[in-house]
Amino acid sequence: MPKKPVRKPASDPPEPRETLFGDITPQDELSLGRPGETFEDIRADIGDCVRCPLHEGRHTIVHTEGKPTARLMFVGEAPGADEDASGRPFVGRAGQLLNKIIEAIGLKREDVLIGNVNRCRPPGNRTPTTEEAHTCKPFLLREINIARPDVIVVLGNTAMKNLLDTKEGITRLRGQFQDYRGIKVMPTFHPAYLLRDPSKKREVWDDMKKVRDYLNSTKA
Ligand code: URA
Repeated sequence: MPKKPVRKPASDPPEPRETLFGDITPQDELSLGRPGETFEDIRADIGDCVRCPLHEGRHTIVHTEGKPTARLMFVGEAPGADEDASGRPFVGRAGQLLNKIIEAIGLKREDVLIGNVNRCRPPGNRTPTTEEAHTCKPFLLREINIARPDVIVVLGNTAMKNLLDTKEGITRLRGQFQDYRGIKVMPTFHPAYLLRDPSKKREVWDDMKKVRDYLNSTKA
């Protein structure tokens, strides 16, 4: 009787080369962008964006505005009607109040960077959904990674939650420096909220004095 061939135990498949199971870039790392990229590269990537439903109702994409070398950046939620019409962030009533806040700490609008988590106006100025914010936010994070300002002021709950990935509310965290990748982040109330409740201006002024003092203490 012919001998049954002895079956060699199957050898293990070769290990994947270089890294086990390959590299899945974390969402956060995607937000770092490409080395050497510019604000113009990011705008080109955004293009005539249709990545989320907000494109359906928008008139203009509202990009971040200001000096990429600014030491101070403001981040809001999303454009309103005036911004959607003009293509510039914070140009309506809330924007006029923001200009005064900037001037109150001895700066001019042209000295700072101003952007939003979402670049298209949500219908009826509703809060952007988590999905919409997550779709648009990486472009802002890439800009922050280029500019690396000394301080980012997050205006209101939505901007704060999106930048800091926190479940805390603005009332609890405002006025206390937080951290985003080594950058100081000051949460404060949104100027639109101050228009509805001017008694809250005092707290924003207190928060902005901390920002001013930090910037002055770290001046080159
Ligand atoms: N509110 C925002 O959050 N952003 C703007 O650009 C205008 C109003």
